[in-house]
Amino acid sequence: MKENPEGLIVALTGASGMPYARRLLQVLCEKGIQVHLSISEAAFLVIREELGLRLDINNPDLEALVGRDVRPIWYHKVTQLDAPIASGSFPIRGMVIIPCSMNTLGAVANGLASNLIQRAASVALKENRRLILVPRETPLNTINLENMLKVARAGAHLIPAMPGFYHHPKTVEDLVDFMVARVLDSLQIGHDLLVPYEGPFQETGGRGQGTGDRG
Ligand SMILES: Cc1cc2nc3c(=O)[nH]c(=O)nc-3n(C[C@H](O)[C@H](O)[C@H](O)COP(=O)(O)O)c2cc1C
Repeated sequence: MKENPEGLIVALTGASGMPYARRLLQVLCEKGIQVHLSISEAAFLVIREELGLRLDINNPDLEALVGRDVRPIWYHKVTQLDAPIASGSFPIRGMVIIPCSMNTLGAVANGLASNLIQRAASVALKENRRLILVPRETPLNTINLENMLKVARAGAHLIPAMPGFYHHPKTVEDLVDFMVARVLDSLQIGHDLLVPYEGPFQETGGRGQGTGDRG
């Protein structure tokens, strides 16, 4: 395998939000960014529910998952603890867990590394690499909240799956793009998924020149 320090780990875990993962993978493939992909066992169940795909954990159909050419994607089974991405010596730019279940969040927050996704996240933290979690659950209990605080204090970047509505989304895809844009921003990867917020909408003349800072 050719090593590429610009490569990214993308991990899918068993929370709702597989359209976010699919869209992120599409954009990364379009940009030719090398992706190391791992998918938890629970994520395969959610993929079946949300994307209508029955994927084989040993040899998933990545073209079906991503919906396009997937040449820069390397798949690593979640039980494969000897995969290169389990080691801090493997050059990697960062890691995104999208969507991130409360189970995986809790594991990362508490230093567990019992599957490849948890191990790679632990490595990202110890190597001071970008680690982005896109958690999704509602409502949140205090344990979830404490785990989020813990991972944030450890250096992870939390981008909860909470799309905004101030861009006047017309479709579900617009909401998905909103979230994926925030992940790409965090990775400093350019994109045109979202028009930057330009201020309050004026009834007569369209968008104004507001200075509002929107998250
Ligand atoms: C259809 C479906 C949707 C789920 N949605 C969520 C969710 O939004 N958030 C969450 O934390 N767990 C959710 N779960 C439960 C997790 O999949 C479960 O806790 C699992 O153990 C997570 O394992 P993982 O972290 O290894 O992926 C869902 C499960 C299923 C089957």
